[in-house]
Amino acid sequence: MDFHRNPDLDASERDEGFELSLRPQRLGEYIGQEKVKARLEIALLAARKRGDVLDHVLLFGPPGLGKTTLAHVLANEMGNPCKVIQAPALEKKGDLAAILTNLEEGEFLFIDEIHRLPPAIEELLYAAMEDRKLDILIGQGPSAQTLKVDLRPFTLVGATTRAGLLSKPLHDRFGMVHRLDFYSRSDLAVIADRSARVLRVEMAPEGAEAIARRSRGTPRICNRLLRRCRDFAEVKGKGVITEDIATACLALHEVDELGLDGLDRAYLEALCGKFRGGPVGLRTLAAALGENEGDSLEDLVEPYLMQIGFLDRTLQGRRATENAYAYLGIKPSAGPLFG
Ligand SMILES: Nc1ncnc2c1ncn2[C@@H]1O[C@H](COP(=O)(O)OP(=O)(O)O)[C@@H](O)[C@H]1O
Ligand SMILES: [Mg+2]
Repeated sequence: MDFHRNPDLDASERDEGFELSLRPQRLGEYIGQEKVKARLEIALLAARKRGDVLDHVLLFGPPGLGKTTLAHVLANEMGNPCKVIQAPALEKKGDLAAILTNLEEGEFLFIDEIHRLPPAIEELLYAAMEDRKLDILIGQGPSAQTLKVDLRPFTLVGATTRAGLLSKPLHDRFGMVHRLDFYSRSDLAVIADRSARVLRVEMAPEGAEAIARRSRGTPRICNRLLRRCRDFAEVKGKGVITEDIATACLALHEVDELGLDGLDRAYLEALCGKFRGGPVGLRTLAAALGENEGDSLEDLVEPYLMQIGFLDRTLQGRRATENAYAYLGIKPSAGPLFG
């Protein structure tokens, strides 16, 4: 049995080019997330009116919901460039110091996976965010001196899949914290439709809905399924993504009616079968699935299973719900395996 994500549907290098071209550039093109957009719109207008920079923004939510896209949208709306860095790529304080001192006035700095900043580097950010100052240590030993360097006004946008892993001092220095939620089916159908136009592929509204239903609330998955359906329509159909084409294509890729794939099912089968519905710790579950750390399960599998009410996360561990058993078509067994 294949425990892993279907590789055809998995993230790949090739995705990046597509994601760039499909990425909305302005807030008006950014679909869904109405509350977040409404709050950001006011912040943008107020900052522009004052001639000030936008306050620092923290975005959190599962992968593929539009954090990176939104960071670029905000910079575009302010008419400023955006520099992008991945937190794990920063190794020395000097790396971040160089980036910060080179920021132009009003420039955006997007730090992805900000929960993975090394602590020493994170501390540099505190004064940078709060006072636009950088403490640089010059020399060594007793003659060492700290030099305070003024930074030009800038906006930091941090993105994380785990708001809970962010330290309090860092969290508190963001003027705005926004959580992105899974998208509704109707929002996803609009996203599929927009992307189909960008890719110049013809699609029936029912085709868009069939894709939206199986997108697990996630625009990135929606766009990925759309591309598979485009291929399928070209090879097996007349180039148009109809409902039948979308359904046949997604069946071929073993994406079911709920959008769940091999890894989601393997997860549920292990939880409900081997571990009799839990509670079971993430690491134990990950080991049973041959996933080393469980990070990918926590980011890519669990959030949506919780969203659709198949999974509870308790202090004792992961628990399957009755809905999960109903989905698998098996009866809950007589109580936990251990104890
Ligand atoms: N609100 C949205 N409207 C339209 N497309 C979106 C939206 N959010 C995300 N997307 C699409 O989904 C893809 C993944 O989004 P991305 O910003 O990379 O997610 P994240 O950074 O949260 O993992 C983008 O390439 C974009 O095409
Ligand atoms: Mg991203």
